[in-house]
Amino acid sequence: MLVTRSTLEAMAEAFGKATCPEEVFGGLAGSSHEKLATLKVQVRNLTRSCHPDNALSQDKNLATDVFQSLSTWEGIARQKIESGTYGDRKSVGAAAPPYTPVEFKVRGKTLTLTSLIAEGVFASVHQAEYDNDAEHSIFVKYTRDVSDNDLLEREFSVLKSFHLPEADPDAEAFFARQRAYVPYPISSFSILDEIKTKHRANLLRVPKGPCYTVETLRKEKFPGGIEPRHVWWIFRRLLLTLWMSHLKGYIHGGVTPDHVLIFPEEHGIVLLDWTCAAKVGEEYVPAINPEYQEYYPPELLRKEVAAPSADIFMAASTALYMLGSNPATLRIPDTVSEGLKRALLSCLAPVARRRPQDAEIFHNEFGNLLGKRTYSHMVIP
Ligand SMILES: Nc1ncnc2c1ncn2[C@@H]1O[C@H](COP(=O)(O)OP(=O)(O)OP(=O)(O)O)[C@@H](O)[C@H]1O
Ligand SMILES: [Mg+2]
Repeated sequence: MLVTRSTLEAMAEAFGKATCPEEVFGGLAGSSHEKLATLKVQVRNLTRSCHPDNALSQDKNLATDVFQSLSTWEGIARQKIESGTYGDRKSVGAAAPPYTPVEFKVRGKTLTLTSLIAEGVFASVHQAEYDNDAEHSIFVKYTRDVSDNDLLEREFSVLKSFHLPEADPDAEAFFARQRAYVPYPISSFSILDEIKTKHRANLLRVPKGPCYTVETLRKEKFPGGIEPRHVWWIFRRLLLTLWMSHLKGYIHGGVTPDHVLIFPEEHGIVLLDWTCAAKVGEEYVPAINPEYQEYYPPELLRKEVAAPSADIFMAASTALYMLGSNPATLRIPDTVSEGLKRALLSCLAPVARRRPQDAEIFHNEFGNLLGKRTYSHMVIP
């Protein structure tokens, strides 16, 4: 196919004027897998109209520019599809803050910090690449203030305990499934700052693929609330994750919307940030995030010793937030049945002993209340 000058000029103008990949490729429909497939077809078709090999000799330079510009837009589109933001019509390049990748050696392998994910309560959280691992999403958290190093040490040792193999085969089969719902602790190390003080850093990994915290989902995608049928699978996975933690002797102590990472396509979750975990019956939760104070049960605010029902309270608070409400008003949408409403509210009893005490038993009871259901795909707008 011969590429004409007028087509090249039109493409150069369109690609030059575009401010986001959506303006080049349109709103791609379906799952990220389907979006990538459609993108591939579109790129193939557009390439035919601008490939330098198909251009007359006097047009080859222009064709090369247009072709490179198309490749750049394709790269940005892929990046957005993979991070689940395709469709927001925001320019990735312009939106991303300037970031110089930082390289370290950790346990003899190269670790590269590639972008800033968030400034959390105590730690800076960065996306990373480590040991050529392309199968997982890798991130590093390090303390901003070295007086908080113990919190990251706590997180690492709690996560390690979840990933130790179990002697009992039944327990091992259960843990093997639940481990996907917490970050995997790869390594813990120190980063020296300019004045040579050591900041504790945790190298962690989670599954790859589009994911959102509950907070982002609610704020940016479902301002009116997430559909109850999706809230239920998230809530029940959360309960099982908490049960694993309780069996290991810890409460999470900070089950808030910013700590629940959702993988819509696989119906997966990861419960993040184990820095405030506390030993059941022995310790109290070391810190409360004031931004989410109303998500905590009263006894944690009073620094009472940890009990599993505190996590159940916080999981229900987060479920309320997902439903479009919040734990301060306790208002649950009318589409939710009376039985489910009662069950959710029972988790939020101010007095701990009035709440369900065992996350697994409550997970099963809640499943019975939901009755028979079919898998439903979660579409992110
Ligand atoms: N793997 C991840 N993918 C996407 N977002 C993440 C990931 N890890 C962390 N985040 C985001 O970064 C925020 C901060 O992470 P995290 O809560 O682990 O650190 P933190 O609050 O600083 O922890 P700490 O309690 O140690 O201060 C999270 O609330 C979450 O929004
Ligand atoms: Mg946090």
